[in-house]
Amino acid sequence: MCGIVGTIGNPDTTNILLSGLQKLSYRGYDSAGIYVNDQKGHDYLVKKSGKLANLEKYITPEMQGMVGLGHTRWATHGEPSDANAHPFKSYDGRYYMIHNGVIDNYQQLRDKYLQGIPLTSQTDSEIIVQMIAKFAHDDHLTTKDALVKTLKLLDGSYSIIMVDSKDPEKLYVAKNQTPLLIGIANGFTLVSSDVLAMIHYTNKFIEMRDKEIGILTADTQTIEDYDGNVINVKPKTIKLDANAADKGAYPYYMLKEIDEEPVVIRRLLTNYLNQNGEPQFDATLIQRFAQIDHLYIVAAGTSYHAGLVGKAFFEQWANIPTSVLLASEAGYHMPLLSAKPGFLFLSQSGETADSRLVLSEINQQNMLSLTMTNVANSTLAREATFSLDLLAGPEIAVASTKAYTAQIALEAIFAKALGIANNITTAKEFPLKQQLSEVANGMQTLVDQKDKIKQLAHDYFADHQNAFYIGRGQDYYVSLEAALKLKEISYIHAEGFAAGELKHGTIALIEKGTPVVGFVTDPETALPMRSNVEEVIARGAHTLTIAAKSLADDTDAVIIPDVATLLTPLLSVVPAQLLAYYASLERGLNVDQPRNLAKSVTVQ
Ligand code: M6R
Repeated sequence: MCGIVGTIGNPDTTNILLSGLQKLSYRGYDSAGIYVNDQKGHDYLVKKSGKLANLEKYITPEMQGMVGLGHTRWATHGEPSDANAHPFKSYDGRYYMIHNGVIDNYQQLRDKYLQGIPLTSQTDSEIIVQMIAKFAHDDHLTTKDALVKTLKLLDGSYSIIMVDSKDPEKLYVAKNQTPLLIGIANGFTLVSSDVLAMIHYTNKFIEMRDKEIGILTADTQTIEDYDGNVINVKPKTIKLDANAADKGAYPYYMLKEIDEEPVVIRRLLTNYLNQNGEPQFDATLIQRFAQIDHLYIVAAGTSYHAGLVGKAFFEQWANIPTSVLLASEAGYHMPLLSAKPGFLFLSQSGETADSRLVLSEINQQNMLSLTMTNVANSTLAREATFSLDLLAGPEIAVASTKAYTAQIALEAIFAKALGIANNITTAKEFPLKQQLSEVANGMQTLVDQKDKIKQLAHDYFADHQNAFYIGRGQDYYVSLEAALKLKEISYIHAEGFAAGELKHGTIALIEKGTPVVGFVTDPETALPMRSNVEEVIARGAHTLTIAAKSLADDTDAVIIPDVATLLTPLLSVVPAQLLAYYASLERGLNVDQPRNLAKSVTVQ
């Protein structure tokens, strides 16, 4: 979950590292550090707990170099502190290293190989650099051999970047189960967990694969397996607008990303529908998924909530029974599978460790899979049978917004394609293009109501520490997502509930003034839903209803345009995202970087 960046061959190394860390901060931000070496005998290490801005206060003008590495951390082992921040220096002062991942057997390795070696941190990561130094010294190994010997002993996930201060003309890198890409720039080389940290300098990248090491110089990039066989990899050109990840005039990425939601829906329509407005996908993908007898959607967090919404598309339009599984549960407790299953992985980042575990298990059984992700070259995209790009553009705010709505829209287009392939009338007749165009227009009217929603956030959430979101059917699934948004960025405890369930226990928590947000978008359940709202009003709740236009009355706070009931989550979630955003702002919090979280959850 950490972000790592390294570079060699550019005298502006310090700035390259700092700007890279800025771009990587979404991956973790509880401490940061850099190491630079000028290849003339001077080097500098600085690492500090807190955000990157804190580290920057300690960077002085003389800290310049030709090679260096930088790290931004999301703590797994050991609290956020200066000592636990990366880079780590080996006990003999020779090696400097940063690591992203988790070393599962670090205690055994420490006990077996590092007796008598003074460790400076509580992390699992530090043992790597200490073992390399120990093997290089005790076994008289070259740096590369000491690195490979160490890597062969590690159980777990890692991306590593390392400098040997005795030979700073090289940068050593290695990868297993966490992302690492090498960027080939004009006269210098970069390496990072994300292209975003390098895209200002190059669009030419080598994607490292698991259990490979790289030996990088300013103008060469040698990739080898752990047995020393050189692997010839052709660099890929990645097209990404370098400015797409900039905040522009927005105070926070989250607001920019909510504003982009209508554009993303239109982009999906342009890319996944043909001129007749019908879905267009790879023929083999459709043919293989049309034959499955059960779809298993696997995802975590917000992506899981998008999966819950998508279930109805696959069942009603494609006639495919669908189960939605929490990745963190499915990895250990897989349900009894059908005879011809197909798996759909939903993941903004494409790197979520819980989902990757499930995918690697189903791959071992040769089962069919599709990943829908926002990161085209991510691990889940590469390792699934098929992958589809969400086309949402970089999502930087930790709270996912446009990726959620993109996932739902792409599930709808894909479900319709499967329904057409299976000759299902409901799919053939559903006017998806027209409906999603109306969704995009409706999103625009909702994002334009920021002032009103800001006021609602103030009125409802300013003084409360508990809130409930209730709905039925699709509205229930939106309630889950709305509650997650509120709690992760405003730290208000919030729960999403199936409205009918509240009176089976949880209604005991409603007291005078408790905010309850109700979604009313389904004609079939509008009446019982209104009754549920009345039940909480009777117990003192301060209710805010978000209703579809045709079902609205004058007590409703936000009216969403009418679209097909199954698609209403695409609209009703927008005011909920904005409510969470303004509730967080109101509390003076960092909306994009909430405490304890990171964007890309690469540990289980
Ligand atoms: O990258 P993924 O979609 O696989 O991430 C899964 C969750 O960690 C993620 O959706 C998380 O819940 C959101 N960032 C919360 O807004």
